[in-house]
Amino acid sequence: MSQRTLVLLKPDTVRRGLMGEVISRIERKAGWTVTALELRSLDRAILEQHYAEHIGKPFYEPLVEFMQSGPIVALVVEGERVIEGVRRLAGPTDPIAAEPGSIRGDFGTIVRENMIHASDSEESAERELKTFFPGLV
Ligand code: PPS
Repeated sequence: MSQRTLVLLKPDTVRRGLMGEVISRIERKAGWTVTALELRSLDRAILEQHYAEHIGKPFYEPLVEFMQSGPIVALVVEGERVIEGVRRLAGPTDPIAAEPGSIRGDFGTIVRENMIHASDSEESAERELKTFFPGLV
């Protein structure tokens, strides 16, 4: 089942010069393709839209501040079961709990600085793709 997902390389990934490493891991997966990519800074409005379901949670403010601490890279990735697949490649939210071999397991430091965001379902992917790539058909 071919799908598309939204991936964000968070400011820690860009700051530490790990964009290429993370994109390369995604690209190496047979059948997955990066079909759009943009380096940009995010304002509070787009983060409120993107993380709407987390407004009011204790980690919301630290998350929104961190996501504005430097540029991010937004990518559209297409391919076979790519939504579940990129989440597996990323590993769990807490890098300490993430297996070596996963992006967060290999490079993540603390929960806030966990390298990557990836849509968690088809519904989230459609919504998040519209937020970051409104021109996408
Ligand atoms: S939940 O409530 O289970 O849905 O939350 P979770 O999926 O674990 O996390 C949702 C997003 O919040 C980020 N997060 C944090 N950011 C900063 N500081 C702290 N303490 C923190 N805890 C969780 C987490 O990385 C998720 O961001 P995305 O971009 O979706 O990966």
